Amino acid sequence: MQIESDQNNNKNNNKYISHEEMERQREFIEKIRLRLEANRENIVSDQAGAKPKAFVETYGCQQNESDSEKIKGMLWDMGYDFCDKPDGADLVLYNTCAVRENAELRVFGNIGALKHKKRKNPNMIICVCGCMMQQEHIANTIKQKYKHVDLVFGTHALYRFPELLYEVMKNERVFDTKNEDGSIFEEISFKREKPPLAKIPIMYGCNNFCTYCIVPYVRGRERSRSAENIMKDVREVAEAGYKEVMLLGQNVNSYALDLLKDERGDETVLSFPQLLREVCKIDGIERVRFMTSHPKDISDELIDAIAEEPKICNQLHLPVQCGSDRVLKLMNRRYTTEKYLEIIKKVKERIPDITLTTDIIVGFPGETNEDFERTLDILKEVEYDTIFSFIYSKRVGTPAASMPQSLTDEEIHANFDRMLAVQNEISKRKNEARLGRVEKVLVEGVSKTDPNTLTGRNEGGKVVNFAGDKSLICEFVDVKITKAQTWSLFGEIVK
Ligand code: 5AD
Ligand code: SF4
Repeated sequence: MQIESDQNNNKNNNKYISHEEMERQREFIEKIRLRLEANRENIVSDQAGAKPKAFVETYGCQQNESDSEKIKGMLWDMGYDFCDKPDGADLVLYNTCAVRENAELRVFGNIGALKHKKRKNPNMIICVCGCMMQQEHIANTIKQKYKHVDLVFGTHALYRFPELLYEVMKNERVFDTKNEDGSIFEEISFKREKPPLAKIPIMYGCNNFCTYCIVPYVRGRERSRSAENIMKDVREVAEAGYKEVMLLGQNVNSYALDLLKDERGDETVLSFPQLLREVCKIDGIERVRFMTSHPKDISDELIDAIAEEPKICNQLHLPVQCGSDRVLKLMNRRYTTEKYLEIIKKVKERIPDITLTTDIIVGFPGETNEDFERTLDILKEVEYDTIFSFIYSKRVGTPAASMPQSLTDEEIHANFDRMLAVQNEISKRKNEARLGRVEKVLVEGVSKTDPNTLTGRNEGGKVVNFAGDKSLICEFVDVKITKAQTWSLFGEIVK
């Protein structure tokens, strides 16, 4: 079935789902809670009287992880607890990513594997949501070929999850993938990962339409949350013992530009650098990071804020994508390498200890070996600490999907491998430069591979491993760096 929703808007902000609509969703949460309580004997969980279990798996970016924390908040309020594998779960939910094809293939593989589990346990509810579902051809494939999936909903229907799930519980298959813009909803608590790190979305969507990218099509136009709501979240996490916040948006540098255009009554609108400085004033929050910045929008005020505010980490993720001006133009990135390098120069001058990272796409349609050499040039010139590199993946509906490819797949893979070799050498060298230094590390947890090793991050966001007691989790410790590898640092506590 297709759900029609009440799209009443808040009186002075048409980008929020109304309070009345959220109240309606709360009623569905309550109805589901009562229903689950009445049906305890039907749950799959092996413990008598236990809560039903939900397994939530998230693909893709931090924004998706943050959305999953909202979904988990709703599931928790409905009375679900969580488990870490689909076996034995009463509800399985995949929150999907559409940015590249390999993430999509993994989702199809995982949904396929649930078919026999559902045959054994027909009460299991299977939900698939997120960016992939916002693409018509994908939602149709699931409708026709994956009949064991009960609920499909796109990014814009996130706030309606309680209503949709309630329909499923009445034995309907539900698809809600409408394309509507403007779906910020507050009034639902995040079920966050444990302290010390909290992710806080400050805006949703993207206006940039880089020609390779599906994000603006599946997440809609930029919508900023009010500074008031963001600050409320920051205060809440500080009180709950979180020490570091990561402010999230596809392009945080255009935070609030949409709010300035709207009729907003007497609400205070802060620019992104102003918002960062306000967040730093909250007691208990010791570190502030943010993701992601578009080079065309980076301002001197932002660079000043990073340089001046001790709590804003000396770290900048600034995706360059490629080092050829010709390809940057085809990508619709709206900066030249000259402009980009000017920003990097300014950042390095103002913040000498900056940790720099970037995103690179190899094999964009039309990219030649000559263009690729320019990407290597920029890596060597900037000397990023780490790069996130991707082979171009064709996305249906984007302009680049109809642009011709110049290089063969073999050539693209060979270039990609060459680039990794160049960058690994740079990353290792940059890490080795930290040998002997004492770094302030926020301890995040115990290493997955060794129970006697703690793991945390330095101010630049680099992983540091060292021996220590787990009572130090959530604390800051001074660690002397004694060993440097390409991807991480090792050290010993000095205090
Ligand atoms: N193919 C490969 N990489 C992509 N990215 C976005 N779209 C694509 C695509 N179609 C990369 C960009 C972006 C990062 C989040 O994902 O580098 O910065
Ligand atoms: Fe995609 Fe470009 Fe928007 Fe980033 S800025 S989400 S790469 S369209």
